[in-house]
Amino acid sequence: MTKLLIIDDERPILEMLDISLTSEGYEVITAESGNEGLKIFAKQGPKLVLTDIKMPGMDGIDVLKRIKGIDNEAEVIVITGHGDMDSAIAALQHGASDFITKPIRDEVLMLSLERAKRKIAISQQLKDYTENLEQKVKECTLELSQAQEELIKTERLATIGETVAGLAHYIKNILTGLRGGMYMVNTGMAKDKPRVLQDGWGMVHRNIEKVSDLVLDLLRYSKERAPERSVCRPNEIVSGAVELLRDRAKEHRVKLNIVLDPNLKQAYLDRDAIQRVLLNLISNAIDACIYDTDTFKAWEVTVKTRLETDAHSGETILLEVTDNGSGMTDEVKAKLFTRFFSTKDGRGTGLGLLITQKIIHEHGGEISVESKAGEGTTFSVRLKSFPPFL
Ligand SMILES: Nc1ncnc2c1ncn2[C@@H]1O[C@H](COP(=O)(O)OP(=O)(O)OP(=O)(O)O)[C@@H](O)[C@H]1O
Ligand SMILES: [Mg+2]
Repeated sequence: MTKLLIIDDERPILEMLDISLTSEGYEVITAESGNEGLKIFAKQGPKLVLTDIKMPGMDGIDVLKRIKGIDNEAEVIVITGHGDMDSAIAALQHGASDFITKPIRDEVLMLSLERAKRKIAISQQLKDYTENLEQKVKECTLELSQAQEELIKTERLATIGETVAGLAHYIKNILTGLRGGMYMVNTGMAKDKPRVLQDGWGMVHRNIEKVSDLVLDLLRYSKERAPERSVCRPNEIVSGAVELLRDRAKEHRVKLNIVLDPNLKQAYLDRDAIQRVLLNLISNAIDACIYDTDTFKAWEVTVKTRLETDAHSGETILLEVTDNGSGMTDEVKAKLFTRFFSTKDGRGTGLGLLITQKIIHEHGGEISVESKAGEGTTFSVRLKSFPPFL
C-alpha cells in the first residue's frame, strides 16, 4: 500500500480527499498545516505528498522545498488555485512532480498520483539495479582477485618446477664429470699411470669448483645484499677477470682482447661482485664463440673500459664485452634476464645473467645488450664511478 501524506488547511477538503484516496487503496496520512505536515514527513517518510499551495503560515512552496531537502526522491504534487499559473510554475521549478488545480477533479488527481507512483517505482527499480550492479562488481572483483592469486600460485609452482628441473639437469652433468674424474683417478692409480691420474684429478677438481660456484650463485641470487664497496681500480678488476679466463679462451681458439681507458683510475665499487659480473659476461662471450656454427670465423672477445663524462650525470664507468660468436635471435634476447634461462642444455644454469643484473642494480647501474644472430653480441654495463651521496 502506498503511503500518501496530504497537507491542506481546509478540513473539509482534507476529509474528502482522505475518504476518496483511502478507497483508492492509498494509506492516507493528513496534516492541517505545513509545519505539521513536515513533522509527519520527517517521522514517517512517505514517498508521495499532496499539498495545498495557499496555506497560512508555511505555504505549499516552502513545504515542497523542505521536503525535497529531506528526501529529493519524494514526489510532491501541489494543489493550486484556479488560474494561479505563477504558483504552479514556481512549484515545478522547485521539483514538484505535478500540479492540479482547484476545484479538484477526481480523474485528474488519480492520473497525477498514478504518474507519481510510476516515477517512484522506476526510481526504486533504478536504485535496486545500481545496488545490484555494485554487488555484482564487488563479486566479480573478488572472483578476479581470487583467480589472480591462483594464477600467481600456479606460476610460482611452475617456476619452482622449471628451476628444479634446470638445476637437476646441471647437477647431473657435474656428477657425470665427477664420476669420470674419479674413474680416471682410480685407473691411474691401479695401472700406475700418473698422467691419467693427474687428468682425472683435474676433472674432479673442476667439477667440485662448479658445485661450489653453483651454491654461491644460488645464495647470491636469493639474498638482497648491499654492495660491499671499497676504493678500487676497475681496470685492474677487468684485467684480473680476463686473466682468469685466458686459458679457457685459448683452449677454444678464441682471441681475448683487452682495451683499457687510462683515464679510468679509481672507483668505489664492490670489487668481488664486479669481478663476478665480468667473469659471467666474458664466459658467456667465449661460450657464444664455442657454440657458433660458423667454424671459419676467427673468434674474438674484446673487453673494454671507458670513463664517460657528462655535464649532467657526472662520471660513468662503461664496461663493455663484445664477441663475434653466435649472436642471439630476438626470441633468446627477449628471454635474457628471465629466471634460469639457458640455451646451453645442462651445461649452464641460466643464473649468470640474473646475478649479473642483480649486482649491477644493487650498484645503481644499468646493463644493456645489442646482438645480431650469426654476427655477435655486445653487453654494456654502466656504473657510477662514485655514487652521488659520497
Ligand atoms: N654473449 C652471448 N652471445 C649469445 N648468447 C648469449 C650471450 N650471453 C648470454 N647469452 C644467452 O643467454 C643465456 C643465459 O645466459 P646466462 O649467463 O644467464 O646463463 P648460462 O650462460 O646459460 O648459464 P651459466 O651462466 O650458469 O653458465 C645463455 O644460455 C645464452 O643463450
Ligand atoms: Mg653464463
